[in-house]
Amino acid sequence: MDISLRAFRFEQDYPVVIDLWNRCGPGVQVRKSDDPEEIQKKLTRDPDLFIIAEHQGRVIGTVLGGFDGRRGMIYHLAVEPGFRVHGVGGMLMQEVEARLLRRGCLKAYLLVTNENEEVIPFYEKRGWSEMKMHMLGKNLS
Ligand SMILES: CC(C)(COP(=O)(O)OP(=O)(O)OC[C@H]1O[C@@H](n2cnc3c(N)ncnc32)[C@H](O)[C@@H]1OP(=O)(O)O)[C@@H](O)C(=O)NCCC(=O)NCCS
Repeated sequence: MDISLRAFRFEQDYPVVIDLWNRCGPGVQVRKSDDPEEIQKKLTRDPDLFIIAEHQGRVIGTVLGGFDGRRGMIYHLAVEPGFRVHGVGGMLMQEVEARLLRRGCLKAYLLVTNENEEVIPFYEKRGWSEMKMHMLGKNLS
């Protein structure tokens, strides 16, 4: 399959990407942080870490990385259902990890929801390991 990776472009990609995320089940939870203004805010910081996979001009996958200067985060790894198990998810992970490393990121995290545990072997095969600790969150707005 002819797959290319490129940076996310807000104007053309945003509606398509939101549609894909909304069809990804419990693995991708579309929240306030995915509103247009929040995604635009994110792009001012890490434009190179929002990566799109494309096949014949069609968006078929995404990954959204972040780097805070110490740790990396990976969000919204998603592949269009009809294109799964062809290596696209692996390509996106490899690329975002390489870009984080080039930025000087030594360690990255990602979250897997309790409803999506079956995806854990996908990450383990690619060198990720589960960290046994509590994850706490707080809405600041
Ligand atoms: C997870 C996801 C991105 C993988 O994309 P992909 O293009 O199919 O990934 P690849 O083809 O590179 O790798 C597929 C491998 O992962 C395994 N895998 C991926 N998702 C899986 C799942 N939900 N359950 C079991 N195995 C899964 C496949 O069995 C396959 O195994 P193999 O390497 O032994 O053949 C895709 O399934 C997806 O978009 N899922 C919905 C969103 C999601 O859950 N994202 C992760 C958020 S933490």
